[in-house]
Amino acid sequence: MRIAVLASGNGSNLQAIIDAIGEGALTGVVLALVLSDKPGCRALERAVEAGVATGVFELLTTPTSGVRAERDRAMIERLRAEQIDLVVLAGYMQILSAEFVQAFAGRLINVHPSLLPRFPGLDAIGQALDAGVAETGVTVHYVDEGVDTGPVIAQESLPIEPGDTADTLAERVHAIEHRLLPSVIVEIAAGRLTGH
Ligand code: GRF
Repeated sequence: MRIAVLASGNGSNLQAIIDAIGEGALTGVVLALVLSDKPGCRALERAVEAGVATGVFELLTTPTSGVRAERDRAMIERLRAEQIDLVVLAGYMQILSAEFVQAFAGRLINVHPSLLPRFPGLDAIGQALDAGVAETGVTVHYVDEGVDTGPVIAQESLPIEPGDTADTLAERVHAIEHRLLPSVIVEIAAGRLTGH
């Protein structure tokens, strides 16, 4: 199964996938491509360090829907040219066009740092802290045309401790993400999940 990762920032989830492949834990998975909207981001550096092909698809003008659709069409072409079977959003901070989502329906997943449907969108960890809930977690889900709304594949919860800050909580959330996302990719590669 040939996968592509889309990322905009640090890329620690990308690194978890690279490491899992390096350890032989992602049987049958080839990380063929890393795409980003942010030239020079750490995720792209991690891809280059791992010898993975990269591509940058910026929004060069004001992101009207037409400009976004054109950019996403170019990404679809690149992903098809590389014969990508599964697209993994890992900290990709752009909304994808409906055409992109439809092109990869059932083959497009995202990792989100909350127990969806609670706390979709930006700063989910901060949202959970502000809400004063006793637990939060991580969700891996198929992507549909909404923001963090697609069918859930896997979730893992963790308690919020008294005195937790955004940093201490984020550290524990990320540790879960780095296990959960590769484990879902293995399941999909093994054919134990068939899309939605
Ligand atoms: C993660 O918390 C992920 O759940 C969210 O964005 C963050 C990306 O972190 N979608 P990284 O770039 O993988 O380090």
